[in-house]
Amino acid sequence: MLKKEDRELETFSIRKSSPLRGEVQPPADKSISHRAIILGALSQGRSTVKNFLRAEDPLTTIAAFRQMGVEIEDKGEEIIIDGKGLTGLKEPSGIIDCGNSGTTMRLLCGVLAGQPFSATLSGDDSLRRRPMQRVIKPLVEMGARITSQAGGYPPLTIQGGGLTPVNYKSTVASAQVKSAILLAGLYCDGVTTISEPDKSRDHTERMLKAQGAGIEIKNLEISIKGRASLNPFNIIIPADFSSAAFFLVAGAIVPDSEIVIKNVGINPTRTGLLDILHLMGADIETKNEHEVSGEPVADLHVRHSSLRGVTVGGDLILKAIDEFPILCVAASLSEGVTKITGAEELRVKESDRIKTMAEALRKAGVDVEELKDGIIIKGRNRLKPASIQSHGDHRVAMSMAIAGLMADGETIIEDTTCVNTSFPKFMEMLEGLAKAK
Ligand code: S3P
Repeated sequence: MLKKEDRELETFSIRKSSPLRGEVQPPADKSISHRAIILGALSQGRSTVKNFLRAEDPLTTIAAFRQMGVEIEDKGEEIIIDGKGLTGLKEPSGIIDCGNSGTTMRLLCGVLAGQPFSATLSGDDSLRRRPMQRVIKPLVEMGARITSQAGGYPPLTIQGGGLTPVNYKSTVASAQVKSAILLAGLYCDGVTTISEPDKSRDHTERMLKAQGAGIEIKNLEISIKGRASLNPFNIIIPADFSSAAFFLVAGAIVPDSEIVIKNVGINPTRTGLLDILHLMGADIETKNEHEVSGEPVADLHVRHSSLRGVTVGGDLILKAIDEFPILCVAASLSEGVTKITGAEELRVKESDRIKTMAEALRKAGVDVEELKDGIIIKGRNRLKPASIQSHGDHRVAMSMAIAGLMADGETIIEDTTCVNTSFPKFMEMLEGLAKAK
């Protein structure tokens, strides 16, 4: 029913699915995995990280810190980081390659702004097309010297040091921008404040607080006191809600399915998709809620049900920012029309996700209208088999694989090595659910 083709072909072949049944634990949270390495490296002493995401994006963050002299050992069971403190990083020899990872590049900008040396960050074709002005501007205001390609694109060269605190009002609700400024704030004498127009994911704040940093949160305004040393930590990372999202939608759309998704991070800044799926009439229960290493975690039980179209925007979309592609798939298999607005940030993700999803869904026979800041989708019962381009975007590739479960015939997803950036075992896990009785 589902087949992972030869690696060299870099394609997925998907056929109409029988019910999906069973239990899965998606891979570890990507955002928290990056932050565990960064904050562990900057803390005073040894930190351990259990259930780290061994996927390409967080592995580039490990490689970057190794390049700056931090010892990070992968013991299998856990990752051990020998933190160097705020001032212990070494000038890297050569360019730091951030691969496909926007989080690596933007958070590293914040760290490098505080260093008394110069470093250059680059990445793959997709990352070199992503806007960096949003981190360059505040960090330059703080005193870093940063050169970029015309328009603020990578490669970036950052000469850090001599930072002064700012009170920065960000015009974009972005956890990457917020985190870059907070990290740079660690290197200032005094208090740095960042306010955002809406609340983006708050993993950085939670972790810094747990490390004893002088951080204060007042609604949308976060302040950090510089120069205090960070305590090391032992952390267990929950499963990534953004990876669980593919199974949530698969379970909701494939008839007779019933899936239990274990140990998923349900930080409220991340679970907009859950709220939206509930509005659409999905049958999802949150069970066994508890806290692990300062983050809320639960098991999510999803059963098939008929979904209906919704109109969503604003705050809910920010909390579902990485789930836009899979939400579009749910909308395509709902009764009626779904309208998503306030999603202009999706234009500057790993691909222009509004455009790539509109193109992919049209190929699958869906009636789609692209908006400047979103999309209108007219749902249908089944999809048409098609050959779909991922445009090198992992979330588009995995979302369209889920869509393929509801197509009458074979769906081919082209260019799927990108899935390794966040979820290398995606197809195996999906196959496991399709085989289970
Ligand atoms: C992330 C923040 C979000 C998200 C990205 C991961 C993070 O990006 O889309 O996948 O780990 O901080 P923005 O900060 O650009 O919204």
